[in-house]
Amino acid sequence: MSQEKPKESSTLIDLQAIAEAKKLFLQRVTWVHHWTDSLFSFRIERPDSFRFRSGEFVMIGLEDGNRPLLRAYSIVSPNWEEHLEFFSIKVPEGPLTSRLQHLKVGDYLFLNKKPTGTLVTDALKSGQRLFMIGTGTGLAPFLSVLRDPETHEKFDEIILTHTVREEQELAYREFLEEQIHADEIFGELLRDRFTYYPTVTRGEFRTQGRITDRIQLGDFAKDLGLIGNRFNPLTARVMVCGSMAFNKDMASMLKEHGLQEGSNSAPGSFVVERAFVG
Ligand code: A2P
Repeated sequence: MSQEKPKESSTLIDLQAIAEAKKLFLQRVTWVHHWTDSLFSFRIERPDSFRFRSGEFVMIGLEDGNRPLLRAYSIVSPNWEEHLEFFSIKVPEGPLTSRLQHLKVGDYLFLNKKPTGTLVTDALKSGQRLFMIGTGTGLAPFLSVLRDPETHEKFDEIILTHTVREEQELAYREFLEEQIHADEIFGELLRDRFTYYPTVTRGEFRTQGRITDRIQLGDFAKDLGLIGNRFNPLTARVMVCGSMAFNKDMASMLKEHGLQEGSNSAPGSFVVERAFVG
C-alpha cells in the first residue's frame, strides 16, 4: 500500500499553488483573540515586501473550492509593525467570517499584494485636531493611524471615538485607555494630546448614545471642553469609518458644518470609508 502524504502538507501545497496563480501572498496566522461571541482579532506574518500607509485596507481570505475567497479588511497595525493585525465581526451566514472565526495559530491566509484606502493622513490637510469617528469594526484603521508618528506631526491633538451597541463590544478599550499610555514611544507622544471617547447605544454607560446625537446635542463638545456643537472647518480634520448609514449621516453633518471631503489626489478636511463586513 502506498503511503499517503500527511493532509496538512498537501493542503499547504494546494494553497501555495492558488496563491501563486492569483498573485497573492500566503501568510501564517500568528495570533487570534476573541473579544466577544461576535468580535475577534487576528495577526498574520507580514511579507517583507508588503508596504502600506497606516489606515489602508487590503483583501484577505481563505480558500474556497480551489479559489480564494477574499474580503476587504482595514489593517489595525501601524505601517512600521512587523505583523499585520485585523479586527473582524463574525457573521453567522457570512461566506468568509463564518469560517474565519475558527482561525487558529498556524493556519494560513491569502493576502492581496495591493493595499489601498482613503483613511490616510495624505488625504487630509494638516490641522489642529484630528477626530477619528468610528462604529463597530470601523475602529480598525484608527488604531493604525493613531500609532503612526506622521499623524502626530500633522495634527496637534487626536480624538478617537468608538460607538458600539453594548459595552463589552468596546474592543481595544484597555489598549486605548491604558496600554498605549504606558508605551515607551507613544506614552510620551500622546500625553495630553489624545482622547479616547467610547459611547454605548444599547446599555448603561457613562457616555451613552450615538456619537452623531452626542455631537449634535453638544454633549461631545462639553465632555471634551470644546466650544459649540459644530466642527470648525479651519481647525478640525475628521476620519469616519462605520456602517453605510453611519457614514452617510456623518458625511452630511460634516458637509453641513462646512468641511470638504478629501481624497488621495485632493486632500480635504474629512475622509470616509466603510467598515467592511463579510
Ligand atoms: P444603535 O444601537 O442606535 O443602532 P451596528 O452594530 O448596527 O453596525 O452599529 C454599531 C453602532 O453604530 C451602534 O451603536 C449603532 O447605534 C451605531 N449606529 C448605527 N447607525 C448609525 C447612524 N446612522 N448614526 C449614528 N450611529 C449609528
